[in-house]
Amino acid sequence: MIIIKLGGSAITDKGESYSFNKEIVARLAGEIKRANKKYIIIHGAGSFGHVTAEQFMLNEGLKDENQIIGFSLTHVTVRLLNLEIIDIFLKNGVRVFSIPPSSVMRLNDHQPLSFNYEIFEEALDKGFTPITFGDVVFDEKIGFSICSGDLLAEILAAHFKPEKVIFVIDEDGLYTSNPKIDKNARFIKSLKYSEIGEIGLERDEHPDVTGGMQGKVNVIKKICQKGIDCVLVNGRHENRLYNVILGEPTKATMVYGEKK
Ligand code: IPE
Repeated sequence: MIIIKLGGSAITDKGESYSFNKEIVARLAGEIKRANKKYIIIHGAGSFGHVTAEQFMLNEGLKDENQIIGFSLTHVTVRLLNLEIIDIFLKNGVRVFSIPPSSVMRLNDHQPLSFNYEIFEEALDKGFTPITFGDVVFDEKIGFSICSGDLLAEILAAHFKPEKVIFVIDEDGLYTSNPKIDKNARFIKSLKYSEIGEIGLERDEHPDVTGGMQGKVNVIKKICQKGIDCVLVNGRHENRLYNVILGEPTKATMVYGEKK
């Protein structure tokens, strides 16, 4: 089984509110179908969730009751994006079953507290492709907070021990330094998670409520520590995701998992 996280920046335009990229999602769904594996799919919120989440400071917890409407509104926006995405996946022959995190998990000060894996297991056993997404969730310590798609990838990878976790993003992968400001920046084809260091982390153009690239790299390290490989691939180029799923050569960064 393979876990695929479709980053919000790959499927929406984070600079423009509610800009959903149908063509890209349809192509990615087609590649996922064609590669013909067992999957759990996760998608980010991109321009759908982050604005309201930030406006109501949801990730700081429930501090005043005016935030409650913001929590509900943010949930609506990520659900709307999820409905669009599941519709496209179904039209492309992927038998997705949507599982909203807010209904199946709780956090404790942003850390996983409880998670209903059974619903994912049952969906997989019955031949569905479970699809879940970055969402607002209840939080034992701070009232509520946000569960990013990256954190979901970490939680699900730890439980299901997939063959690999693929992060579909809007960049080619990791570089030795910021390619936008450093002409000598070199693309990294593969590395061990222990070699990640601080590379490529200052490149976020639109840092978001769930930590952007820094958060993603932290999650990748945690997944790799469990011995699971992670791959970063650009979703905006045809067939790269398909090739990564099948382990065929393509432009992408492979981060090798290793047990300590
Ligand atoms: C964020 O999800 C969820 C909300 C803001 C409610 P992600 O953190 O997974 O979204 P992207 O991939 O960064 O857009």
